[in-house]
Amino acid sequence: MTLPFRVRDEKFTAMNVERCWRCGLCFGVRRAVNLAKSLAGSGWNVFTDGPIAHGNLLVERLQAEGITILDGDRSRFGAKDCILIRSHGATPARRKELSKMGCNVVDCTCPAVRRNENLIAKLLGNGKHVLLFGKKTHPEIVALAACDAKNISVCEGEVDLPSTDAIGPKDIAILCQTTADGHEFSKFVAAAKLRFPMAQSANGQCGEVKLRCEELAKAISRREPDTAVIVVGSQHSSNAQTLAAIGHRASLKTAICEKICDIGQDFFCGTKRIAIASATSTPADAVDAITSHCSRQRGQRIADGSC
Ligand code: F3S
Repeated sequence: MTLPFRVRDEKFTAMNVERCWRCGLCFGVRRAVNLAKSLAGSGWNVFTDGPIAHGNLLVERLQAEGITILDGDRSRFGAKDCILIRSHGATPARRKELSKMGCNVVDCTCPAVRRNENLIAKLLGNGKHVLLFGKKTHPEIVALAACDAKNISVCEGEVDLPSTDAIGPKDIAILCQTTADGHEFSKFVAAAKLRFPMAQSANGQCGEVKLRCEELAKAISRREPDTAVIVVGSQHSSNAQTLAAIGHRASLKTAICEKICDIGQDFFCGTKRIAIASATSTPADAVDAITSHCSRQRGQRIADGSC
């Protein structure tokens, strides 16, 4: 008897899914979200000054609970309206603007961001020039740099280092964004010290990001073949990018996604092991959903690469 189709010699992967233990919202984002929810629950109309954190899922969920992003055109506020300064903080000028809007302003700046703000103020007070390593457009960096545009140089890499002439005789201090990539920061510090040998550096990376990076690095350190990395978070999240960079540096297939539909099925093709890490503004249940989806991928056909 002839079979109507050719039976392939199929082999199946045994997908091993390892989810990093630290996942869901970090304490800074959780603190801001809890405050927003408790104000909304007490009858306040809560607006956030920009997205509360870089997580679309989180922002959508808050919107569903009536906590919305402040509309730039809005100029009139009622007695029960309140504006939240998000976890990234705000520039001094923005804080002043908000305080003049005639409604309650609640500051939800993350304590780790506050710590860097205080450190920069101290360094500037000691007459130093600060090289601030981070993404120029990130709200945290924008807020920090606005404290003293003349004595803070924002650098995304070696290419942005100021010349010695531009700085003059000032001492140099180096600091990084809370969610900066520690590996890239070390490279930057090394380059900066070649130009400014007496420069002193302080690692401004927050403890939560540092621990999540260490955990992911450990999860992929065994270098098992056919390992892939999924970072559950927004493409716009700096710490999601920092986590993904760990996968890229290890030459592993790496994706950043908030929902499983953001990943094509071919991502799983030939993958035997997946390490899952979470960005700090991703709700834990979104990480759970992606973890269980990946676990169900057991049995992917890998015989001819036509998954
Ligand atoms: Fe704060 Fe670090 Fe989260 S700076 S908001 S604890 S990622």
